[in-house]
Amino acid sequence: MRHLLDIRDLTTNEIDELMDTAEDIIANPKKYAECLHGKKLATLFFEPSTRTRLSFEAAMMELGGNVLGFSEAKSSSAAKGESVGDTVRTVGCYADVIAMRHPREGAPTAAAMVSPVPIINAGDGGHNHPTQTLTDLLTIRREKGRLNQLVIGCCGDLKFGRTVHSLIHAMMRYKSIRFVFISPKELRVPDYVLETLQKHGISYVEVEKLEDVIGTLDVLYMTRVQRERFFNEEEYLRLKDSYILDVEKMKLARKDLAVLHPLPRVNEISVKVDDDPRACYFRQVANGKYMREALLLKLLEVDA
Ligand code: NCD
Repeated sequence: MRHLLDIRDLTTNEIDELMDTAEDIIANPKKYAECLHGKKLATLFFEPSTRTRLSFEAAMMELGGNVLGFSEAKSSSAAKGESVGDTVRTVGCYADVIAMRHPREGAPTAAAMVSPVPIINAGDGGHNHPTQTLTDLLTIRREKGRLNQLVIGCCGDLKFGRTVHSLIHAMMRYKSIRFVFISPKELRVPDYVLETLQKHGISYVEVEKLEDVIGTLDVLYMTRVQRERFFNEEEYLRLKDSYILDVEKMKLARKDLAVLHPLPRVNEISVKVDDDPRACYFRQVANGKYMREALLLKLLEVDA
């Protein structure tokens, strides 16, 4: 039985195959419409979500399966003090696969140790978010035509932004990748992630001003400052508007830049940028559903 707890649980080949399946689903949706008939996905969300939970549920429905679950901890027995392990052992009696989001780092890994069915990490605290990364990779491949030879800028909250950590671990496996990390000092990429880059000899720089580097980027990955992970509201208020991508800054960028954002956006991309063809974030949302379909087929070991 396979789980997806960290993007590194998948080989580069497996990721490439998932992207090929997603492309095939996009091209031939009817071929997949009954693939997961009779199967059930449980979405256990102990933290808020719009895209991740609903795209998982939509993905399961498009494959002919069914969904059950909860979208907040207070409507589950977690509110009575039940452990994640007991919740998962219970839900594993009802469902064939579980997608779980939890504020505690490592909670899905603990769940996987006792779960009778595959666990998918749908975001654990400020740690990992592997299915967002699958979404991001398909988006980069579709927008840029490649995953090699790219200069990737990650901008915003690189400390608490779990999507960035998973994206770095995935993209560093492709050839000739250079990272440009743009953040205030307080929100730098954690050392444990930088150490992996150093160990593998991957090139990166850390800067504070987006304007200075935007013209060098192939991909710009914007992120929200993660308010819910701050210890102190004053610090959040001081840092929340560190970066705002607007029409003026887009003028400094390359004509073939791809702007991604895992969403939700708060203030970090002006809505005026949405009409720019380089703004990919709503196409990225659509890709997420197809990548999750491909992942569900893989974990449930079903071929079209
Ligand atoms: C992200 C998350 O939950 O980490 N959202 C998402 O899943 N698309 C990003 C965020 O909340 O800022």
